[in-house]
Amino acid sequence: MDVIEIFGGKPLKGKIRISGSKNSALPILASTLLTNSIVRLTNIPSLSDIFSMIDLLKSLNVKILKKKNSCYTFKSNKPKSLIAPYELVRKMRASFLILGPLLSRYGYAKVSLPGGCAIGTRPVDLHLDCLKKMGASFKIKNGYVHGSVKSKLKGTSINFKKKSVGATENLIMAATLAEGQTIIYNAAQEPEINDLCNFLIKIGAKIKGHGTEVITIDGVKKLNGGEFEVMPDRIEAGTFALSVLGCSGKLILSGVNTEIYKHLKNILRPISLLKLKKIDNKSFSIEKVKNGCLNLKITTKEYPGFPTDLQAQLTSALLKIKGLNEINEKIFENRFMHVSELRRMGAKIKKKGSKVEISGVKEIYGAQLMATDLRASSCLIIAGLMAKGKTIINRVYHLDRGYENIEKKLKACGAKINRIKK
Ligand code: UD1
Repeated sequence: MDVIEIFGGKPLKGKIRISGSKNSALPILASTLLTNSIVRLTNIPSLSDIFSMIDLLKSLNVKILKKKNSCYTFKSNKPKSLIAPYELVRKMRASFLILGPLLSRYGYAKVSLPGGCAIGTRPVDLHLDCLKKMGASFKIKNGYVHGSVKSKLKGTSINFKKKSVGATENLIMAATLAEGQTIIYNAAQEPEINDLCNFLIKIGAKIKGHGTEVITIDGVKKLNGGEFEVMPDRIEAGTFALSVLGCSGKLILSGVNTEIYKHLKNILRPISLLKLKKIDNKSFSIEKVKNGCLNLKITTKEYPGFPTDLQAQLTSALLKIKGLNEINEKIFENRFMHVSELRRMGAKIKKKGSKVEISGVKEIYGAQLMATDLRASSCLIIAGLMAKGKTIINRVYHLDRGYENIEKKLKACGAKINRIKK
């Protein structure tokens, strides 16, 4: 298994091109199952999660007609079997997103239950409840959800008791081909959901209100083909922004958009040591403008709040900043696996329930580390870049799930970082 080796202590300076968004590309890929026309997608990042979704689609008779760099042309033919096997769902929870499209188009799907993962129990009750309200019935047998629909899914109104990105996406996809109108209340508002809706609209879906808490979908008989560019990855951009906080320096992030710029500016506003400056509609700079003390209280929230997917990276970026900083994780119950690894580097972190308190230290020190999940991996990379001496990060397959060429991008900005192939 590959490891990442880092010699820390260098400020970051240079330009990084942000890749396409993983969390937008995954549901958009799942939604290719909704049409038998040709779909061309661009800005698809090269990540292992994306390859897992493509493998799953292939097993469902989706053909790749053409692939060049980040552009893929797909055609979804009628599958011989409608199964998402354990081996694929276990690797990547987002495989569960094929449930809505398959039930809507074919009236049946057998999908492995994702089970727990490193960051929490992560149930799928919200996905199943809303599809049940549309007329699907489910049996759970041998670790699989067997879903079936008598004739067609029927539009209905659904008020989510809790905001869920995945359940909102599954339901939107299911509703595009359902009979009648579906209204979703308390829908998640993440930009990746907007991206999915914009793609679906492009291929003929009738969706209104996306980006707000109430989304209305009028079912259509058939979706068409089309071309769509996946949005840039705001979590990747945020990870590099927080790397600058941890390591000092200045990065120019390109390939982004104004919405991501505004979102990051908004969530990073309390961090007065950082300055974000718009360059044009597709790029902005991020600079650590001063050293000083911070006493933050940041709580992770649904969009437009501080994303849980940047919580671990923020934790490491704050390790050497004077003051007492508090982060409260409100989305997942067990997303602090990185804390014990950071402590091994000399970090002073107290964990109290859903909160961590970080007391700034003068120095942290390189160590052998173990990545435990995707965002914990990038958190350890930031810590390694900040640390004195050598850091080795093991289990980097977690990193490859969600960051395209992260070590090459950082290396081009002065970091001493290498992937050692093993
Ligand atoms: C998506 C993102 C993930 C991000 C998360 C929260 C993708 C591929 N993944 O994951 O990177 O961290 O949003 O922003 O887009 N929940 C239930 N029942 C359900 C579904 C969810 O209780 O049926 C709970 C979860 O356990 C969690 C919360 O709802 O506590 C939010 O989860 P959700 O928004 O569904 O996350 P994902 O879609 O899995």
